[in-house]
Amino acid sequence: MKRIKRQIKNNVSWIGYIDWELETFHGDDYSISHGSSQNAYLIEEEKTVLVDTVWQPHDTVFMDNLKKVVDLNKLDYVVINHGEVDHSGALPALMKERPDLTIICTKNALSSLQGQYGGEDWNYHVVKTGDSLDVGNGKQLVFVEMRMLHWPDSMAAYLTGDNILFSNDAFGQHYAVDGLFNDLADQCLLEAEAIKYYANILTPFSPLVAAKIKEVVGLNLPIDIIAPSHGAIWRDNPLQIIEKYAAWADDYQEDRLTIVYDTMWEGTTELAHRLAAEAVRAYPDTRVSVFNISKSDKNDIMTEVFRSRAIAVGSPTVGNDILSSVAGWIHFLKSLKFKNKKAAAFGCYGWSGESIKKLKEKLADAGFDVVDPSLRVQWKARTDELPEVKEIIGALLG
Ligand code: FEO
Repeated sequence: MKRIKRQIKNNVSWIGYIDWELETFHGDDYSISHGSSQNAYLIEEEKTVLVDTVWQPHDTVFMDNLKKVVDLNKLDYVVINHGEVDHSGALPALMKERPDLTIICTKNALSSLQGQYGGEDWNYHVVKTGDSLDVGNGKQLVFVEMRMLHWPDSMAAYLTGDNILFSNDAFGQHYAVDGLFNDLADQCLLEAEAIKYYANILTPFSPLVAAKIKEVVGLNLPIDIIAPSHGAIWRDNPLQIIEKYAAWADDYQEDRLTIVYDTMWEGTTELAHRLAAEAVRAYPDTRVSVFNISKSDKNDIMTEVFRSRAIAVGSPTVGNDILSSVAGWIHFLKSLKFKNKKAAAFGCYGWSGESIKKLKEKLADAGFDVVDPSLRVQWKARTDELPEVKEIIGALLG
């Protein structure tokens, strides 16, 4: 029999949706490689509390499952930790059946819920950091606002007694895990999906992540389980993901170089490969990755940039400018607000050769420390010796 309610601890269960077929997220802005999940949870103490829901396309399945495991009339509260549709999407279906149900959320979430669904006549109980809800049997849900992690309305809820932190998007991953828990997941995929999620969604908010982690750690709450709204639930050494977030929020970098380019007639491809070969020769401890923007997943490239201490970006000159694929990618790069990383520009040209100047301006505008040496080659690299290759790699990695 399909398990629709799965125990997390004592009277707390998972009642979410494992989305094996999901291919993209945020429209097409985030690639999904190994499925995902929308995790909702049911707390059944003296009070019965639902924590979050699922995305609207799955609301019928969700409501059918919910009705199988609990009498809807017994529900006392639904906690909406975050108004984004992947977690609140089934709320209208729930409220249709229980229009009197109390929704617990932040003030900003009230705005986002009403903005998306109407629901002006729904019954809201607005909470802020430090507020709590007595769920009976000596346990309380304590709320912590997680503003800008990653929306102004985001919140986490901590269940005393069971020591479970319902963290919503924070600490999650877009990764479908049949066994639900982190110790039952493929460890390589789990780490890869967790860092991809952070790099592509949370990097712009790193200063706030760092401050929030300090605040949460400062509360000295015992944490046995971190139950995010996507992916694996952290029960085996749950603090490991908090430690990782603390490191990732601190201008994270490893000894890596990422080379990103696009090309028209393979001239810029040749330059990318020469830069990579020189980096491998001169700095053998540095891990080097090369990506053609048009042939690689942009989110995977961005994860490598997140891990790198330096990048080199290449485009040939076209129409006195750079290729649109590279321009679009740098636009995405800028939005992530990376800090403390070096960048260099390279590219071939036929006639006027403005791409290097444009790339340098755009990379500086994106917050990178742009090194002086660049590699600007007319037509194609015909000689073995290109002194600028050594100069660039020395400036980026030296
Ligand atoms: Fe911000 Fe998973 O939604």
